[in-house]
Amino acid sequence: MQQHIVLVGLSGSGKTTVAPLIAQSLGRRCVDTDTDIVVKAQRPIADIFAREGEAAFRALETQALAAALEQQSLVIATGGGIVESSANRELLRANAFVVWLHARTPSLVERLQAMTDRPLLGDNPEDALQKMAARRTPLYADLADLIITTDDQSPQQIADEVVRTYSMRQQRSASAGVQVSTPGGSYAVLAGPGLLDSLPQHLHQLGLRGRAWLISDTTVMALHGDRVQQLLRDHGHTVEAYSIPTGEQYKTLDTVRGAYDWLLRAGVERGDVVLALGGGVVGDLAGFVAATVLRGIAVIQLPTTVLATVDSALGGKTGVDHAVGKNLIGAFHQPRLVLADTNLLATLPSPERAAGWAEAIKHGVIGDAALFADLRQSAADVLALEEPITGELLQRAAAYKARVVSGDEREQGTRILLNYGHTIGHAVETESAYTLRHGECVAIGMMAAGGIAQRLGLFSSAALAEQQAVLELFGLPTRLSESIDIEQVMTRIGSDKKVRAKRVRWVLPTEIGAATIRDDVPLDLVMDVLSDLR
Ligand SMILES: NC(=O)c1ccc[n+]([C@@H]2O[C@H](COP(=O)([O-])OP(=O)(O)OC[C@H]3O[C@@H](n4cnc5c(N)ncnc54)[C@H](O)[C@@H]3O)[C@@H](O)[C@H]2O)c1
Repeated sequence: MQQHIVLVGLSGSGKTTVAPLIAQSLGRRCVDTDTDIVVKAQRPIADIFAREGEAAFRALETQALAAALEQQSLVIATGGGIVESSANRELLRANAFVVWLHARTPSLVERLQAMTDRPLLGDNPEDALQKMAARRTPLYADLADLIITTDDQSPQQIADEVVRTYSMRQQRSASAGVQVSTPGGSYAVLAGPGLLDSLPQHLHQLGLRGRAWLISDTTVMALHGDRVQQLLRDHGHTVEAYSIPTGEQYKTLDTVRGAYDWLLRAGVERGDVVLALGGGVVGDLAGFVAATVLRGIAVIQLPTTVLATVDSALGGKTGVDHAVGKNLIGAFHQPRLVLADTNLLATLPSPERAAGWAEAIKHGVIGDAALFADLRQSAADVLALEEPITGELLQRAAAYKARVVSGDEREQGTRILLNYGHTIGHAVETESAYTLRHGECVAIGMMAAGGIAQRLGLFSSAALAEQQAVLELFGLPTRLSESIDIEQVMTRIGSDKKVRAKRVRWVLPTEIGAATIRDDVPLDLVMDVLSDLR
């Protein structure tokens, strides 16, 4: 993760002056490793050098750097010699966007004339700087993600250049996105702030020049529908819009019928495109409408919830619920593009955000231990929608699903792993009459499946506790409330789609980052685990 911006360069290159300007522009905190060392040691740097020598100073510097890098998204000014230590270079390479502020020696000498606390410069600063430059230049150059020649620029100009380049790289890495490749279609999954504005350009590139049929729910249409329609009209598209009622209880064939009536009466054609703007309910339902009307037209998913961004919008599973259970009617229909503008998440109520992260935590538990660890570390920041960490973790969680789906579009093999937590989760969701959110039910389902795995000796108690801790950091439920009837949950498990030849196929974790499938779990063990979750 390149979230810290670290300034390196010789004494006098302007790191301490420029760092606060960058921090101010990006709304971040700024630290200076030299200042941190002085505050901690309660002595000037020259004194540390004189009494304990350079090696002791470098050790203090490594401690100060490591402590700074453990925090989130800082701008860090460093001492000129920080690159001399290989430990420091490794830390920087792994954790930072490194900017080398470069200047010619005469400029440095001029700037340094007023300063006294420069222990390595001695009586002949010009000569000392030249020697340092010769030694450190290859080290700076090797580490730098960006090199700025500072001689003729003001500190503000330098800061502006850093911010511009850094932001461009962030956007580029977000817009490079993730690719899903399946027999049913290949497409990009893009997540990041402000991406909605690129929709007209994407429609053009995909050759989708027919009418755009925007489907959303009443809530999201009221918040963001006008903007999408205006954007497309401004770029010469014809747009029609249709709202379905908000809520899982409307993810039904009756609602689908209403959408068919609207599309067919208004003359939808094969070359048109459905735009699904909303959470998983809209994505599933609009995707199913697109899969079936006129035997299938294009759909673009514009997810507006965390859950839809990391999970439901990609993979091509579309469908609606039936009174017997969730998602029992549907079709595989891959979108032509998934475009998630993370700015739209700002209007999403906090409990909905938290619920969505359950699916990302699930991806961490079943297959991406690094994602799990980063979610634990950044829980508060992503719940507050801090960027760039939010876009980055959404993209990584989506990337995990993209990899799985690309290898197994129709759930013949590994894709079933994505159902971790869903066997019991779906049963609890239906049993709660949809008063619990999907992600909340998945969290409970993960605790149940984790508990089953632990009793079977597949998953350690420590790993189960870790899973619980991270779910709780995101404010997700990890226990079954009294209102859920366990007997009913057991009955509903039998009608889940993952039942094959009357045997329930359980996705069970074996450690954080790995899972397996078992169909030999005794039902009384499941019953015991559910009772323990009360
Ligand atoms: N197809 C798949 O592979 C797949 C995978 C996982 C889940 N799902 C399905 O996804 C659905 C759950 O999706 P969800 O959690 O996104 O729920 P959702 O679609 O019901 O959205 C949650 C709520 O947030 C509102 N909302 C959405 N975006 C908003 C925004 N930006 N600002 C303000 N309000 C906003 C919605 O109106 C709704 O009230 C379930 O039906 C589940 O079965 C499908």
